[in-house]
Amino acid sequence: TTEPMIAPSLLSADFAYLADEAARVEGSDWLHVDVMDAHFVPNLTIGAPVVKSLRKATDIPLDCHLMIDDPDRWAPEYAEVGAYNVTFHAEAAHNVTQTARAIKAAGAKAGLALKPGTPLEQYLDVLKEFDTLLVMTVEPGFGGQEFIEAMLPKIAAARAAVDSGHLQLVIEVDGGVNADTIEQAAAAGADCFVAGSAVYGADDPAEAVRRLRAQAAA
Ligand code: DX5
Ligand code: ZN
Repeated sequence: TTEPMIAPSLLSADFAYLADEAARVEGSDWLHVDVMDAHFVPNLTIGAPVVKSLRKATDIPLDCHLMIDDPDRWAPEYAEVGAYNVTFHAEAAHNVTQTARAIKAAGAKAGLALKPGTPLEQYLDVLKEFDTLLVMTVEPGFGGQEFIEAMLPKIAAARAAVDSGHLQLVIEVDGGVNADTIEQAAAAGADCFVAGSAVYGADDPAEAVRRLRAQAAA
């Protein structure tokens, strides 16, 4: 298998100093940007103008996680402003295939996110349209929540679908990933690990990234 990827989430960073906060996690594989609209989730963060500025402030590929209604309308703009990967929620989309294709046509990788209660089986046949599958291991909306272990079989099912040759996907996990939980998520078959509080809550965020990556590879 490939080297595990770590994607620090800026949600746990200081939003007044985003360029500095990105620099504190140099060496990360992706920088995870949580976009929330106070409709799909009960929290509000940032949008495309901030992603556009961030793109110029860091070389780390930006992994935008859209927790918004009507991603069909909004997702391609994130590709246009320079996101490397644009992930939207299956539950919010009107047409997941069309939206994936629009993101890719605008120049980014496309990701599909599933809330904890959303079954993978329902989306298996559209996953061929995607580069990334984001398995939420908390209810989306806030950092610092506890990892839901009941999601491990969903990660394993995604891994099985990829390994059987049916799909080519980065399997990403998001929510409650830290030193105590990353090994289980890795063992279940995840490739990419989002970590907010576990990275930005550390004294040395870059060192926290290296430690998490080593744990995931073990
Ligand atoms: C939650 C976000 C996560 C969040 C994770 O809705 O999607 O990316 O930042 O935070 P931690 O790692 O603290 O659970
Ligand atoms: Zn996220």
